[in-house]
Amino acid sequence: MALTRRRLKLVLTVTMINFFIFIIISRHGGQDKNGRHKIRIPSRPFWAKLAPSPAYWNLQQQILDLQNNPILGGNLSSVGAPDWFNETALTSDPCEPNFRVTTQVKDYKSLPQRFKDFLHHMHCRSYAIRVDQPDICLEQPFLLLAVKSLAPHFDRRQAIRQSWGRAGVIANQTVVTIFLLGNAASEDYFPDLSEMLRYESHQHKDVIQWDYRDSFFNLTVKEVLFLDWIQTRCSGARFIFKGDDDVFVNTHRILDFLKGLPERRAKDLFVGDVITNAGPHRDKKVKYFIPESLFLGMYPPYAGGGGYLFSGDVAARLYNASRQVALYPIDDVYTGMCLRKLGLTPEKNKEFRTFNIEEKYRRNPCAYRSLMLVHPRTPQEMIQIWEWLDAPDLNC
Ligand SMILES: *[C@@H]1O[C@H](CO)[C@@H](O)[C@H](O)[C@H]1NC(C)=O
Ligand SMILES: *[C@@H]1O[C@H](CO)[C@@H](O)[C@H](O)[C@H]1NC(C)=O
Ligand SMILES: *[C@@H]1O[C@H](CO)[C@@H](O)[C@H](O)[C@H]1NC(C)=O
Ligand SMILES: *[C@@H]1O[C@H](CO)[C@@H](O)[C@H](O)[C@H]1NC(C)=O
Ligand SMILES: *[C@@H]1O[C@H](CO)[C@@H](O)[C@H](O)[C@H]1NC(C)=O
Repeated sequence: MALTRRRLKLVLTVTMINFFIFIIISRHGGQDKNGRHKIRIPSRPFWAKLAPSPAYWNLQQQILDLQNNPILGGNLSSVGAPDWFNETALTSDPCEPNFRVTTQVKDYKSLPQRFKDFLHHMHCRSYAIRVDQPDICLEQPFLLLAVKSLAPHFDRRQAIRQSWGRAGVIANQTVVTIFLLGNAASEDYFPDLSEMLRYESHQHKDVIQWDYRDSFFNLTVKEVLFLDWIQTRCSGARFIFKGDDDVFVNTHRILDFLKGLPERRAKDLFVGDVITNAGPHRDKKVKYFIPESLFLGMYPPYAGGGGYLFSGDVAARLYNASRQVALYPIDDVYTGMCLRKLGLTPEKNKEFRTFNIEEKYRRNPCAYRSLMLVHPRTPQEMIQIWEWLDAPDLNC
């Protein structure tokens, strides 16, 4: 009884205080001394006028942001889009090579060829699928292992099939393995491997191939095509590992890790070897060099492309976000950009060793027991390490 009365008293007091505050505000606010309503108009706009970025990628992203801004409702002509919008926005077929970049990117002429190729096709995201496995996820996988490979890497794919990528039911969970390929193009002097690839995909039914030139700068194309593929062919996958074909993955360890995850964390899962506070390399000799005319700014946190693990739920959100992020020539950075768009931060996990382990432990079977990924490993090493881990007498 006493408690109820005390509560009632408290409620009454709070109500009284609120009432007084209301009276004070309504007497002082909104009216000047003459009692007339006065609207204050700021002398300058409080937002900055949107100015075009001098870097081509940033500019394309600004355009996408304008188009996708719900406040503008996709109707730019009615709100007075900035006048640079029309000059740079793409009007024709995004998959036709865009030669306007030759004048729009200021140092275009002096850029290495791979940048020119990238810029010409930067707006194209759809390529035909040549080899598909429409039924591979009929039995919904708990874990989908998606391996980025190149057509000539037959031995790496076979070693993965015989070791960490052995599909089937592992530890009572369905694991499905696929290999993601583009074209080993004749313009890159690859021998014609199409017959061998046809044989391989017929034999193993785990190859997905799209009709585009498989190059380093086109790995982002592979990423967006894969995100699209998941939604159409494998949207029921609980978790997805995506990585390179020169890594060792401890599938047992990954399954253990995933099975122990609380529901909430499982839903938003994105883990790997996360790199923070990085930015583009400006040294022309580095593989990851990016000129200032293409990109300005820092990179968001991203997981190194050697391999990372995420949930099917995040995959669906990434697919959506990717359509609002301009293609960037470095695929793992691109995925970081999409995550940032979603407001997700990739989680760093020390069991992902994309920069290898200490030399002295590399031949120690026990070193691999509690790791999820080690990079790099040759096909023979993959098979050997897998055998070590499988040995019943492994005593660590
Ligand atoms: C866009 O704005 C124009 C001009 O204000 C208007 O005529 C048109 O109906 C709008 N379109 C959409 C889809 O809202
Ligand atoms: C952009 O082009 C469209 C049609 O091509 C035109 O209606 C619109 O006024 C242009 N907008 C600007 C800002 O120039
Ligand atoms: C394997 O999974 C099935 C279905 O999810 C379950 O009923 C069974 O108990 C599991 N077996 C083991 C050994 O965990
Ligand atoms: C990406 O693929 C397209 C289609 O095959 C090709 O035209 C373009 O040159 C490729 N880009 C790079 C950077 O290799
Ligand atoms: C993706 O976008 C579509 C359409 O905007 C929306 O209906 C769907 O819920 C989104 N999916 C996710 C996972 O965010």
